[in-house]
Amino acid sequence: METGFYFCSACCFLIIFSKAATAIDTISPSESLTDGRTLISNDETFVLGFFSPGTSKNQYLGIWFNNIPVQTVVWVANRINPINDSTGLLQIENGGRIVLQVQNITAVWSTNTTASVQNPVLQLLESGNLVVWDGTDSNSDNYLWQSFDYPSDTMLPGMKIGVDLRTGFQRRLSAWKSGDDPSPGDLTYGVELEGSPEMVLRKGLEKYSLSGLWNGNGFSGAPYYRSNPIFEYDFVWKENEIYYIFFLKNQSGKLRNVLNESQSQSQSYAWNQETQTWQQFIALPIDYSDRYGLCGPNANCVIELN
Ligand SMILES: *[C@@H]1O[C@H](CO)[C@@H](O)[C@H](O)[C@H]1NC(C)=O
Ligand SMILES: *[C@@H]1O[C@H](CO)[C@@H](O)[C@H](O)[C@H]1NC(C)=O
Ligand SMILES: *[C@@H]1O[C@H](CO)[C@@H](O)[C@H](O)[C@H]1NC(C)=O
Ligand SMILES: *[C@@H]1O[C@H](CO)[C@@H](O)[C@H](O)[C@H]1NC(C)=O
Ligand SMILES: *[C@@H]1O[C@H](CO)[C@@H](O)[C@H](O)[C@H]1NC(C)=O
Repeated sequence: METGFYFCSACCFLIIFSKAATAIDTISPSESLTDGRTLISNDETFVLGFFSPGTSKNQYLGIWFNNIPVQTVVWVANRINPINDSTGLLQIENGGRIVLQVQNITAVWSTNTTASVQNPVLQLLESGNLVVWDGTDSNSDNYLWQSFDYPSDTMLPGMKIGVDLRTGFQRRLSAWKSGDDPSPGDLTYGVELEGSPEMVLRKGLEKYSLSGLWNGNGFSGAPYYRSNPIFEYDFVWKENEIYYIFFLKNQSGKLRNVLNESQSQSQSYAWNQETQTWQQFIALPIDYSDRYGLCGPNANCVIELN
């Protein structure tokens, strides 16, 4: 037993050591992440760290694209509770709860994990999903918590937007208030159920159906994405959950769908490697007929994607 233990420790040490030489994508309960340090996903697509948006001096814990000249944030932990100094400290507790604290005491953000595990691991995945899993569980896909369940303003490939029908839990996007303030604005995007489900963008009380109602095997008014070279999408309606999801056609591409508060739009951007810029290729609503009511279940809306 003892030999096994020492052997294992040596292995772990080597793994940690060789990892440290490149980038680190995990934190365990004995470690922490402080201002100025980052986690970088395995193939270096995403970064987790502290940042200040726009001209703000406030600090937030967030995830952004790595190796892109314009910092492009896709997720923020403490959206409504900014940190005003550089004492932010991210840790994972033994029970698997993630805690972000300042000045060694005040928790400005934490997760709500109820399961209790021996060896929780916090990991930033290549998809941009920040997850907690049990290090003793051989299946690391059994997440105790994942940031994809708590989206900010951005939908990434592989992320579900929708409703868990057993619990009523909603996964929906909400725009940043402004470029300097990631706290939730008025614009939201999610699945709404009024008999038949539909994808709805809301600006306060104003409602835009982006899909039309689901009529059993398709949406009444959503031909937008049918044939595009960049991504494929699925709308899944099962006994337990309803969600919208999309995937990249070319895995080496970068894609994000983001809510834009000032334009009241849901915008899709693809990264152009040559020009080193984000190119917008869809903005919804794109047409007056997207407005709720004009594309009812029996209306025949045809909207071309230009
Ligand atoms: C910074 O935040 C802490 C708690 O989050 C608070 O106690 C302190 O007064 C704040 N300082 C300033 C200068 O706003
Ligand atoms: C934070 O708290 C720990 C334990 O309470 C203490 O040992 C440490 O000195 C504190 N660090 C700072 C910077 O106050
Ligand atoms: C934590 O869980 C409780 C009970 O399920 C819930 O009411 C609360 O909103 C959750 N808090 C967060 C931050 O998710
Ligand atoms: C996928 O994208 C990469 C980089 O942008 C490009 O080099 C490659 O040709 C693309 N593959 C396909 C099948 O389009
Ligand atoms: C909002 O959309 C406008 C017009 O497309 C664009 O110029 C601006 O950068 C967008 N804002 C954000 C925060 O993406």
